[in-house]
Amino acid sequence: MKLNTVKLAYFSPTKTTMKILEGIAEGLGAETVQHIDLTLPEADATRQDAMQDELVLLGVPVYEGRVAKTAIPRLQRLKADKTPAVVVVVYGNRAFEDALLELSDIAWELGFFPVAGGAFIGEHAFASETRPMANGRPDTEDIAKAKEFGSGIRAKVEGMASIDEASRIDLPGDTPYIDRDRSALAEKAARTLDETCTLCGTCESLCPVGAITIEDVVKTDNLACILCNACVKSCPEGARVVDDPTINKIVNWVSKNYQARQEPLR
Ligand SMILES: Cc1cc2nc3c(=O)[nH]c(=O)nc-3n(C[C@H](O)[C@H](O)[C@H](O)COP(=O)(O)O)c2cc1C
Ligand code: SF4
Ligand code: SF4
Repeated sequence: MKLNTVKLAYFSPTKTTMKILEGIAEGLGAETVQHIDLTLPEADATRQDAMQDELVLLGVPVYEGRVAKTAIPRLQRLKADKTPAVVVVVYGNRAFEDALLELSDIAWELGFFPVAGGAFIGEHAFASETRPMANGRPDTEDIAKAKEFGSGIRAKVEGMASIDEASRIDLPGDTPYIDRDRSALAEKAARTLDETCTLCGTCESLCPVGAITIEDVVKTDNLACILCNACVKSCPEGARVVDDPTINKIVNWVSKNYQARQEPLR
């Protein structure tokens, strides 16, 4: 099989997943690389064309050991027909649990044929200087590993006469997938420090679920917020915060207990 076009389809609020897919694509060395960014709410209404003679890299972040929920209906807008795919999850150095298997199962249901899978590490959405969790990752080493992964996939795909030759890949994870009690996080959301905010609109434009509206102050729909931290990380004034005490307790615990550097699995 020839590899001319590579498509990167991802949900990536804080952009670490996107960076990993870009690294893999570089290693693949395809002539054409196209992005299908499923991060913003418009992705809910955009139907993608059928994909056939191309390799699609599907990437999502891990939320509570699973595929980030918001990504699922957006991935389901992709059309595939035995399209070779690479499934990639990115997690914040705690654990990816059943997310990679779940993403692979979603890909199969959509008509993709996963030829490879990997779990990479990205700076945790809740990381800060005081509570470091994979800060600065993916770093140079991670990107080098992503490229290496990409060149291995190229060799594998080019060695196949047709996708029918591929066998189902074995990925870590269990069914039924882990299902954590989220009640402690219900209606918790990022908020704005009104005295620091300049109403620039950056947070509103980057929120993956349209939870932010700018009026005379920044308003947040607490029910819609998925706590992705895109607004917190992108606010030029540091005016978006997640400082709920229950969340703080969880973040402190994760930061304290998951300091040992995890390495990509692929
Ligand atoms: C709500 C939420 C839940 C998360 N759950 C996990 C988790 O279970 N394990 C983990 O290691 N990281 C977890 N993370 C961290 C993300 O997987 C990590 O920050 C990832 O790099 C985000 O991808 P993105 O930059 O593409 O948005 C979580 C982040 C958020 C916002
Ligand atoms: S990005 Fe920050 S400064 Fe800009 S509107 Fe949002 S909270 Fe205000
Ligand atoms: S309001 Fe919530 S969902 Fe929207 S960007 Fe901020 S943390 Fe993410």
